[in-house]
Amino acid sequence: LSNGLGLTPQMGWNSWNHFQCDIEEKLIRETADAIVSTGLAALGYNYINLDDCWAELNRDSQGNLVPKSSTFPSGIKALADYVHSKGLKLGIYSDAGTRTCSKTMPGSLGHEEQDAKTFASWGVDYLKYDNCFNTGTSPKKRYPVMSKALLNSGRRIFFSLCEWGKEDPATWAPRIGNSWRTTGDIEDNWASMTSRADENDKWASYAGPGGWNDPDMLEVGNGGMTTEEYRAHFSIWALAKAPLLIGCDIRAMDNVTLSLLNNKEVIAVNQDKLGIQGKKVKAQGDLEVWAGPLTENRIALVLWNRSPSKALITAYWSDVGLNQTTVVNANDLWTHSVKSSVKGKLSANIDPHACKMYIITPQPQ
Ligand code: GLA
Repeated sequence: LSNGLGLTPQMGWNSWNHFQCDIEEKLIRETADAIVSTGLAALGYNYINLDDCWAELNRDSQGNLVPKSSTFPSGIKALADYVHSKGLKLGIYSDAGTRTCSKTMPGSLGHEEQDAKTFASWGVDYLKYDNCFNTGTSPKKRYPVMSKALLNSGRRIFFSLCEWGKEDPATWAPRIGNSWRTTGDIEDNWASMTSRADENDKWASYAGPGGWNDPDMLEVGNGGMTTEEYRAHFSIWALAKAPLLIGCDIRAMDNVTLSLLNNKEVIAVNQDKLGIQGKKVKAQGDLEVWAGPLTENRIALVLWNRSPSKALITAYWSDVGLNQTTVVNANDLWTHSVKSSVKGKLSANIDPHACKMYIITPQPQ
């Protein structure tokens, strides 16, 4: 969507994966504090996004959405002011149906203009727009109405479509939104994460500056996967130009979690200005090579061992679009070591469910 937003994939935090409906304003303010104090904000994680369950069950007598008084007594405007005072942006959530998925608050169907104006008046910067209780109408009819309402709201608001890939949104959503979910909900386990990665991969050619495929939010730090599985999750999301929306409790995360989320070079792959989604270029059973182009003729490369045993994985230059004679430097983004003058292929022995991630820089000949 050409609203000037999402020129690189959005980064930040969302409440759903860790907290579901158990959210209140103090948690959100503390999360904003933590995303700054951990250094994550300075690395680009700047959206603080509320998900479902922030509003009262019903609209007021004028039909307005009302922040839930028991959990957001100060209101959303005050929360946006707080988040903005930290140099961050505030995201909110609604649904292109009559109720949100939790059933605890109204959806925006039929109230698009009113709700967009409300969000703008509160200083909201981002809307995630869900698909529950949608009356059976096509998302291609419902989502453009909110897109237009946001454009007319008087505030620049990032528009994140969440129709779970139901009607191939990659083929129509780039005109309407800044990102679109390509999959159902991620769960905090290996099987779910790998299948979301594969489902999202099919749509790679449709992503670009202004509009991104969204395989759902990060589970890194939530405890259901091993460190190597989370490293692979983060590496593949970065390579695939997926939104990097942290889904753990940032206030309580451990150092290992932080050391995954704060890898500057991996983030730089995600935020590369070229904006081309990297994809799976080779799979031999569960041994996979993922790659994509970066600015300055560099290539981002992930060797991913999805098998249960240690294995050697090789990327040949023909797999990644390089000339056979090209000599490169390979910078390992997780060990921070460089292999110089590499010719023809790059191989590594990789632990089960682990990956290696590189930036490959061709040398002048
Ligand atoms: C749907 C969405 C999730 C989350 C929940 C909230 O399942 O896909 O990401 O927003 O609704 O109820």
